[in-house]
Amino acid sequence: MKTEILALNIKEEKTVKTVFTTGLKNLPGVFGGLFDAADKVCVVTEPLAENKFSKNLKRLLGPTRKNFIYYSLTGRGGNKNIAELERLCLFLLKHSFSRQSLLLAAGGGSVTDLAGFAASIYMRGIKWISVPTTFLGQIDAGLGGKTAVNLGGIKNMLGSFYQPDLTVCDTAFLDSLPREELLSGAGELLKYAFIGGNSLRETVLSNLNAALKGDRSALFKCVKACAEFKMFIVSKDEKDENGERELLNFGHTAAHAFETLSKGKLPHGEAVAHGLFFALIVSKETGLLPETEFTKLTALIRGLGLKPLSAACGDFKRFLALVSKDKKARGNINRFVLIKAPGLMETAENIKPAILKIALEETLK
Ligand SMILES: NC(=O)c1ccc[n+]([C@@H]2O[C@H](COP(=O)([O-])OP(=O)(O)OC[C@H]3O[C@@H](n4cnc5c(N)ncnc54)[C@H](O)[C@@H]3O)[C@@H](O)[C@H]2O)c1
Repeated sequence: MKTEILALNIKEEKTVKTVFTTGLKNLPGVFGGLFDAADKVCVVTEPLAENKFSKNLKRLLGPTRKNFIYYSLTGRGGNKNIAELERLCLFLLKHSFSRQSLLLAAGGGSVTDLAGFAASIYMRGIKWISVPTTFLGQIDAGLGGKTAVNLGGIKNMLGSFYQPDLTVCDTAFLDSLPREELLSGAGELLKYAFIGGNSLRETVLSNLNAALKGDRSALFKCVKACAEFKMFIVSKDEKDENGERELLNFGHTAAHAFETLSKGKLPHGEAVAHGLFFALIVSKETGLLPETEFTKLTALIRGLGLKPLSAACGDFKRFLALVSKDKKARGNINRFVLIKAPGLMETAENIKPAILKIALEETLK
């Protein structure tokens, strides 16, 4: 078992630690300070955990796990909505959780988003630990302190920036992950290959195929490289204010619209892969991305062999309304992160509907 720790200052007063490991035992023993300072620990996880990753969670939490209080979310991956958030906060209240208590979220991005948001608002904020158990969670969703629930059918409309005190990316959790969830992670993985520098791109592209087959070493390399890159960006622009963090949104404006139009049936990572394709077409159509690069980059997305988007995603009127309501948009003007070349990004506003229509039609083919 190897364990590496990345410690980055996000704000002057706060260092956020990210642990990269495979098969770490007894986390409360290793990070005694954090657990010892807590009067109670709540482990928030999903109901199906018993069948999927409970063995790994028991191993990670070690013998002290028996003193913890467990909360099971409802639904697959947990429902990221206000009703679920209220239930969790009421549970904390009922069990007399205080400002000195600790919340540990173990699950995919849906679980860490919801539990992190609960931690940020319960008694105006309690400490929390993020334990992402999906590939997508370990390279993206479980890191960086963006927490949220959906509202009125729109993704992540209520949320906060609230850093976990510790994030544990333990790739042993990925052993039980079905292929479609690894594939979903590949959407975010390719995003890093497109926005990152040469070394990140090389790591991702040389390990992509093996990672999708569940190869532990390839998964570890991808997780570490992507998570380090994300945390580095977050340390420079925690609250998405100076444009640095906006890079991470590449492909996401269209992806969020696809998720809403498919009524939540499309996994996030798959939506991102289609959203990347959409953004590449817009980049080409606006004259930013040369045809040769476009062909190379779209081939990487096609290589994933994803299912086509459902017809519901082709409703251009609703799509246009959704991309203009995206959190990145200002007023009713749309705003997209576009690409000129790998690692060279540009934001653009008010893209003409005619271009967006072409891109949507091409993405749906
Ligand atoms: N906060 C952020 O910065 C950020 C970034 C990207 C995505 N997200 C959010 O993350 C969510 C998607 O996350 P996700 O892809 O992890 O999906 P998810 O949380 O819905 O989990 C997907 C599935 O994997 C299962 N699962 C989880 N861990 C497992 C394991 N170890 N073994 C077997 N099965 C396991 C779950 O039961 C679920 O069925 C979306 O809501 C998205 O908006 C947030």
